[in-house]
Amino acid sequence: MEVKWEGIRSISGTSWKMRTIDWEDGAVTLIDQTGLPKEERVLKCSTVDELVDAIRNLRVRGAPALCAAGAFGVALAAKNGEDIENAAEILKKTRPTAINLSYGIDRVLEKASNGKTTEEIREFTLEEAKRIAEEDIEVNKKIGEHGAKLLEDGDVVLTHCNAGRMACIDWGTALGVIRTAIEQGKEIKVVACETRPLNQGSRITTWELLRDNIPVMLIVDSAAGYLMKKGMVDKVIVGADRITRNAVINKIGTYSLSILAKEHGIPFYVAAPLSTFDLEKEEKDVEIEERVPNELIYIGREQIAPLDVDVYNPAFDATPIELVTAIITEKGISESQSL
Ligand code: MRU
Repeated sequence: MEVKWEGIRSISGTSWKMRTIDWEDGAVTLIDQTGLPKEERVLKCSTVDELVDAIRNLRVRGAPALCAAGAFGVALAAKNGEDIENAAEILKKTRPTAINLSYGIDRVLEKASNGKTTEEIREFTLEEAKRIAEEDIEVNKKIGEHGAKLLEDGDVVLTHCNAGRMACIDWGTALGVIRTAIEQGKEIKVVACETRPLNQGSRITTWELLRDNIPVMLIVDSAAGYLMKKGMVDKVIVGADRITRNAVINKIGTYSLSILAKEHGIPFYVAAPLSTFDLEKEEKDVEIEERVPNELIYIGREQIAPLDVDVYNPAFDATPIELVTAIITEKGISESQSL
């Protein structure tokens, strides 16, 4: 369903540091990440349909932000008098790979089950969704404090996709570690992989880092190995969409980076909240989202491949846990082998 966006406003003029996703005047507001870096606009989702469309089209994206989006989505359904179980099912199916989405939804549903009246259900769901958003910031600050111990003054850190403020409510996971290290006075430079096909690295990571005056250099995904070989990368830090017993599932291209890091003796770190862990599962049990061929056939309106070419477009891949040097969570740093 194509949604007509009515609640659009520009964030220029207001502080760009508004939360990535929030609750405002009975609706969910979010920074529309599809517009970045050119258009800085905020969308207002007054219905679950609008929010579902925003999630599917990556207007809001990144595992922790999806956690809050799912949570606010259930609160929105309750506010609008919709069947919250049905809304939860629809929301969960929007993006299958990041476990944080269903984690947020289930937490809110659990609270709703304590509500005896419609009014209580509305109140409890919104309270819990707001709590999830608050927690995200606290958790990311803790991830930052732990992870910053791994970074040394002068490090150049390569990252993939966007595991920053825009993938969370604020601060970020992988980029949160970098922000905290910089706050502590360390000089850190970032190398951002552009992250084809949707370019979360070039469009979003560079945008948010430059706004915080954090030095960042953009590269094409395929240049990572060359930079590592030339000694231009000290560490790799990425986020995660799901961490199973045997793998870290994250944006497509992460697995290749982990192999390159190993080959070049570079530490490969994953920064993620505990809500990303799914230790009952293994890589084979996780659905990897496949996206439409047009993401590869077009750049914007420009056709860059034959229309009838076969396309395979997985949005995520799985990095075997043995290739991860350590995982940074709000509880500390764990050698991944000890999961
Ligand atoms: O498809 P996206 O942009 O939602 O993918 C996001 C990622 O792969 C991130 O690295 C991951 O969600 C961690 S964000 C803190």
